[in-house]
Amino acid sequence: VNVLSVTSEIFPIIKTGGLADVAGALPSALAAEDVRVITLVPGYPAVMRAIEGMEAIHQYPSCFGGSANLLSGKAGELDLFVIDAPHLFDRPGSPYLAPDGRDWADNARRFAALARAAADIGQGLAPGFVPDVVHAHDWQAGLVPIYLRLAERARPATVMTIHNIAFQGVFPPYLLLELGLPASTFTIDGVEYYGQIGFLKAGLQHADRITTVSPTYVREIQTPEGGMGLDGLLRVRSTAMSGILNGIDDKIWDPGADTNLAQTYDHNDLDTRMINKGALQKRLGLSQDPDAMLFGIVSRLSEQKGLDLVLAGLSGLLAGGAQLALLGSGDQTLEDSFRTASIVHPGQVGCFFGYDEELAHLIQGGSDALLVPSRFEPCGLTQLCAMRYGSVPIVSRVGGLADTVIDANEMAIAAGVATGFQFGPVALSPLTNAVDRAKNLWRDRQAWRRLQGNGMRTDVSWRRPAKQYADLYRACLSM
Ligand code: ADP
Ligand code: GLC
Repeated sequence: VNVLSVTSEIFPIIKTGGLADVAGALPSALAAEDVRVITLVPGYPAVMRAIEGMEAIHQYPSCFGGSANLLSGKAGELDLFVIDAPHLFDRPGSPYLAPDGRDWADNARRFAALARAAADIGQGLAPGFVPDVVHAHDWQAGLVPIYLRLAERARPATVMTIHNIAFQGVFPPYLLLELGLPASTFTIDGVEYYGQIGFLKAGLQHADRITTVSPTYVREIQTPEGGMGLDGLLRVRSTAMSGILNGIDDKIWDPGADTNLAQTYDHNDLDTRMINKGALQKRLGLSQDPDAMLFGIVSRLSEQKGLDLVLAGLSGLLAGGAQLALLGSGDQTLEDSFRTASIVHPGQVGCFFGYDEELAHLIQGGSDALLVPSRFEPCGLTQLCAMRYGSVPIVSRVGGLADTVIDANEMAIAAGVATGFQFGPVALSPLTNAVDRAKNLWRDRQAWRRLQGNGMRTDVSWRRPAKQYADLYRACLSM
């Protein structure tokens, strides 16, 4: 099976969140399932620097306001197509935001260009690679299915994956013709979304199959509370939709070989893991105390992630000498509040604001527990990393968090299957309860080690999910 994957970010080249991890790791996991994946990405500066063995395959004299080239090449193991359109993508910084923190004003054109190139490759533009399936990720690739349908020629099957329904790519209707969408598409069954053009909506309406990144999120987004305006459409399309959990790249996330750690370790050797706890405490200015329970957070700072609840419950969290290590970037108000907390609680709260791959690994390898109190979480990757690294996840019971962490209730402990703590609803007192349960169990060293071991032995790799994607692609072929 040949698959064209269409994404606006890909690890290790350009990343703002978990989508990049998924897009970067799935191709090699799928290779083991006899699926060949080439990924189409925008020609941001980071991509242009990373691409090797570049070949031009097509020239667009006019592509949404300027000329563009479609290139093919490699970056490490990844096979890439790149839409090199300097007027759209040759800009520093975030793939989505201008330096003033607002969306680039021409995001509709930028990601329509990505979708246009994808549809063209889908129709055989790239010699030697005719996709059987075009797999579009999130709103940035949302126009792919409709462009392919409008072409009125034989076309590959389309799969649209929702990584986060909070981001929908909604733009003013006057762009319709400029985006190559006939006026007839501006209907409720087309691209129209509450009087605007909805890129994700268009994708969900026209894709042959829809997936999202956990079974629980499949259900949540079909409700008015979780659907963010798209629940009605998704209920209508529910038979075309399925949930496939994310995995993590177990070569990048391998505590036995991780050069970002002060000390590598495995589940038979949790004593040496303590060296990382010391290194983490040192790095973030926390008291060098092996007997202080250390909570970690690795997260975007946004409303979604529920970190305001951690701030609200901070004194309870820190009671008895516990510590908090936070790595995050995003919302300025949250950042300021955590900075203040680190000043008010010196040696007990340590923060680093910004993006830091190495510190993300050290927090997973050095903390005792990882907090993920998200209000909603399509899948979540940090709790999977935590399990693999022997940091016990404490998560809200939503989305993929509900589907990946087994709560340490009495029976799960007795059965030897518990891997973490869940709480719900997403509010302060349930969070506090879960933290207290974790603190109590942590005092029982043997019991805690069993939790760690259960998590570390759980298969959080891409093996099982990759097989599910491969099955889905094959099912598309016989449609
Ligand atoms: P989301 O995509 O909603 O941000 P995920 O849990 O799916 O959430 O993925 C987040 C990814 O980004 C993980 O790989 C995590 O380790 C990483 N990450 C988040 N914040 C930071 C940060 N400040 N520095 C480094 N890595 C981060
Ligand atoms: C989104 C979601 C996150 C998910 C990631 C990758 O960013 O917020 O839960 O893990 O996409 O699918």
